[in-house]
Amino acid sequence: MTVTETISETSAFAREARQNGRTIGFVPTMGALHEGHLTLVRRARKENDLVVVSIFVNPIQFNNPDDLKKYPRTLEKDLEMLKGAGCDLAFCPSVEEMYPDNHRKSYDFGDLARVMEGEFRPGHFDGVATVVQRLFEITHPHRAYFGEKDYQQLQIIRALVRNEHIDTEIVPCPISREDDGLARSSRNERLTPAMRKAAPYIHMVLEEARSLAANHTAPQIVNFVKAKFSDHPHLKLEYFTIAGGNTLQAVEGRISPGDYGFIAVFAGEIRLIDNIRLI
Ligand code: PAF
Repeated sequence: MTVTETISETSAFAREARQNGRTIGFVPTMGALHEGHLTLVRRARKENDLVVVSIFVNPIQFNNPDDLKKYPRTLEKDLEMLKGAGCDLAFCPSVEEMYPDNHRKSYDFGDLARVMEGEFRPGHFDGVATVVQRLFEITHPHRAYFGEKDYQQLQIIRALVRNEHIDTEIVPCPISREDDGLARSSRNERLTPAMRKAAPYIHMVLEEARSLAANHTAPQIVNFVKAKFSDHPHLKLEYFTIAGGNTLQAVEGRISPGDYGFIAVFAGEIRLIDNIRLI
């Protein structure tokens, strides 16, 4: 496995691969890798000739400086895991390499970016889209793999690719879960033992919401979920929204096929998100 830190080495690798008619599968990450990331890497391995993974904690997508400071960084271990999963090139740039001009682009994703994560994390999706577009320019992948845990991010990236005419296929990958149902996330590492024990409750409540979807309206299910968190000792609900899987706009009445429940919860200072397809 080749490890690069510069844009020039990485884009030269991608250019040469394309000149030789080889396909590139790309998995962008912020490191602190877990089994969920490895699932994406293995899938990219199966579907492409070469696999490129980026490890870059992107400062401009964090709206909370403390979250950025405390984001887990485990580069040595990450590189070992990537080697084992069949990655060909790991691109691990510095902030200066990625942003010599400290530049954050501003995008118009319309209503997609105004709700949920867009509402609670101002500027977050401009930061994500800026880095993903830059990473796509550098690695020029045929396919790029994104987990459905960050479902809204996935829809934003699809819009980015459409709006900017980027010739990369976006491949969505199902949420990877621990045995107790907790969605895998790099942030899980920062949970205290008590919070880690409490956190699978989030998925459990989403499953209960799904079981109600066929014969309850969206507002009834939203109230049900709110009540489930109202006096929880460890978990604080930030939002639970039922929205269309494509539009991400809130559903007001009956649930239709393709609607999802989206949730954000604080376990202490750690913010966790998850989602479930309801019908
Ligand atoms: O999902 C993530 O880990 C990040 O948002 C991404 C796509 C790597 C961009 O920094």
